[in-house]
Amino acid sequence: MHPFGPEATSDPHPINARLREDSPAHEIPLGPNLNAWLITRYDDARRALNDPRLSKNIKDAPVRTSGGWPDDLRKAMDSHMLSADPPNHTRLRKLVSSVFTARRIADLRPDVQRISDELLDGFAGRDEVDLIGEYAFPLPLQVICELLGVPIDDRDSFRTWSNTIIASALAQGDALAAATSMNDYVRELIARKRAEPDHALLSGLISAADEGDRLSEDELTSLVFLLLLAGHETTVNLIGNGVYLLLSHPDRMAQLRAYPEQLSPAIEEFLRFESPVKTSTIRMATEPVEFDGVTVPAGAVVMISLLSANHDPAAFADPERFDPARTDNQHLAFGHGIHYCLGAPLARLEGQIAFTGLLERFPKLRAAQPLDELAWRPGALLRGLDRLPVMLH
Ligand code: HEM
Repeated sequence: MHPFGPEATSDPHPINARLREDSPAHEIPLGPNLNAWLITRYDDARRALNDPRLSKNIKDAPVRTSGGWPDDLRKAMDSHMLSADPPNHTRLRKLVSSVFTARRIADLRPDVQRISDELLDGFAGRDEVDLIGEYAFPLPLQVICELLGVPIDDRDSFRTWSNTIIASALAQGDALAAATSMNDYVRELIARKRAEPDHALLSGLISAADEGDRLSEDELTSLVFLLLLAGHETTVNLIGNGVYLLLSHPDRMAQLRAYPEQLSPAIEEFLRFESPVKTSTIRMATEPVEFDGVTVPAGAVVMISLLSANHDPAAFADPERFDPARTDNQHLAFGHGIHYCLGAPLARLEGQIAFTGLLERFPKLRAAQPLDELAWRPGALLRGLDRLPVMLH
């Protein structure tokens, strides 16, 4: 009963329910010579996500250094806020938040709308499309490129690199080559933006300053990696999993078409029910930490199952019922505490526009193959479909 094994990849919910009942913390094998402790209950998960004894400063921990990434690349990929504890986390998050503001996100709305419209226009004359490959995937990637100010001509390379890096956590072959190319590209892009600033986020981040403090070159590069990796595949899964849930509950989809104002709570229910990030990123226990009588030892790697916490009957009434009208939905899909997702407002905006466009334009939208035959992507971190073939008319 491994929570990241093949059985759990296609249907994690029964396995998570058993884990939650059995024990508050489970030691599971994560890789060769590497175990992790998985926290599965809602209250424990919320506490763990914000527990200063569970450190995110894992740059030099064996779990990272054993991945095989060369030092310079590891530094470039890991010098961001999600791999930092206070006070460095506070400093990085403050600098980034000073330019990644609610205003900037609101200003992106017309761009997100245009990108969504263009992708849907591209479906003209087609009966069947793969909703992941042709909509859920390109939409957030283009939004992040737009946000950062990545020139249009470079976006295909960005797409290939991010695909390859996400596909492998280890520095092997293609992933290493992709991360190296991306690192070189990002450094060059930063140099270009320094010379010719524009109105996009990257230029803002370059000049962001707090009492004379600025982001270093490594921190800037790392942040671009983080925004791309944290903001892309996650949002792909919000759109893909949401459409999957609607296709498997046609009555709910009809209801949402009739009452589009119910989309906001529906998006929160997509996030709860099929959480795009099923497990938090890893933390390291700096001292023993107790969960309901079970002690996680100092030095242990800890992961928090957001998907399991989001189905805990102690926190949600009738949690296995998909209910787009659910109120008081305090899910943990965006994490909790100091590392709470910085991009949550952008992800929600993208979801609003993506689902509205799809539901409005395609009243007969339906699955092109039995939903229980769809393949979910393997891996410990993300929950999402490989492909989602749909009939449009
Ligand atoms: C952090 C989920 C979209 C940027 C996180 C965390 C989660 C999460 C669970 C915390 C991880 C942990 O504590 O281990 C999601 C989901 C998304 C999404 C489900 C889409 C539906 C985005 C977007 C961006 C973004 C669009 C930006 C473009 C970030 C950043 C952090 C973060 C910068 C780190 C915050 C910190 O360490 O203080 N996200 N995310 N995310 N996310 Fe998101």
